[in-house]
Amino acid sequence: MSIIAIHKCSPTDTLDMQQMVPKLARVKSYFSDAPDVSTLEVEMADGVPVNYAPGQFNMLTVFGVGEAAISISGAPNGARLIHTIRDVGAVSHALTRLKPGDLLGLRGPFGIGWPIRAAHSKDVLIVAGGLGLAPLRSVLYHILAHRVKFGVVTLLYGARQPEDILYQSEIAYWRESCEINVALTVDHADVKWPGRVGVVTQLIDQAKFDPQNTLAMVCGPEVMMRFAAAALVEREIDAENIFLSMERNMKCAIGHCGHCQFGPNFLCRDGPVLSYEKLRPLLKVKEL
Ligand SMILES: Cc1cc2nc3c(=O)[nH]c(=O)nc-3n(C[C@H](O)[C@H](O)[C@H](O)COP(=O)(O)OP(=O)(O)OC[C@H]3O[C@@H](n4cnc5c(N)ncnc54)[C@H](O)[C@@H]3O)c2cc1C
Ligand code: FES
Repeated sequence: MSIIAIHKCSPTDTLDMQQMVPKLARVKSYFSDAPDVSTLEVEMADGVPVNYAPGQFNMLTVFGVGEAAISISGAPNGARLIHTIRDVGAVSHALTRLKPGDLLGLRGPFGIGWPIRAAHSKDVLIVAGGLGLAPLRSVLYHILAHRVKFGVVTLLYGARQPEDILYQSEIAYWRESCEINVALTVDHADVKWPGRVGVVTQLIDQAKFDPQNTLAMVCGPEVMMRFAAAALVEREIDAENIFLSMERNMKCAIGHCGHCQFGPNFLCRDGPVLSYEKLRPLLKVKEL
């Protein structure tokens, strides 16, 4: 006698399955930010807006090529769904080649974003390296829309070279508006660059904030985040008030496959934003 086990789908299974199926989206506009970086504004083909929190990400599919995790870098009101993408491999290359009107797949938003609520009434220090400004731009939009809720807000941003600085016109506007303090640096520059040369962590020494009442958000290459977080601790910001956005390869994005595991955390579900207090011991483990 054979026994056939019948698996009945629970409501959670159904929800998970729905989250695995990309919805159709269309490229609305395209902007080339830097030699290998493009910003795509997309709209859902069904017209239903996607609401998200700053720091969350979407899984974008180029049909016939593959899927990649990309942070949402627009204002968090669902009105404009914006992604800034660096061409590093097959999927990102295909994404940066899309043009207005082209269709793509979109699943999301996923993950836990930046702790905006916890930053209310505090000084906010945003430290970004390279493409790390993309998920932090959502935070800046949010802060600027609710400026009175925050104390001194400072953006420290470093790029490899002047051409790699993202969102240049917006940064100029933020600087002029005096709503936030902005300090920029580049790793390398020719004589035409009037600004600072050096790594972004060097800007932390001069930034003005009250360490006892500051929340720091850091995003960039992992090595930069490690040094930045250590420098922030030197400036007496508590590790529990420092947040980093971590990247690992994503597949399912809903906490099932384990591809994004970092210590005990699945970054798609428990992150990508986590406190330095949680991350510090893990960042010391080689090749984790
Ligand atoms: C939460 C999250 C948010 C992200 N947001 C953005 C974003 O806003 N813009 C953007 O351009 N990219 C972002 N990424 C990175 C992007 O998902 C990867 O670069 C993706 O693998 C690109 O796919 P690909 O096929 O083009 O390149 P692949 O062929 O997958 O990889 C090309 C190269 O990049 C390396 N790589 C792949 N994935 C990662 C990763 N996650 N971290 C570090 N190195 C990696 C590979 O080792 C390889 O050297 C994000 C990743 C995560 C996890
Ligand atoms: S990507 Fe599958 S568990 Fe995170």
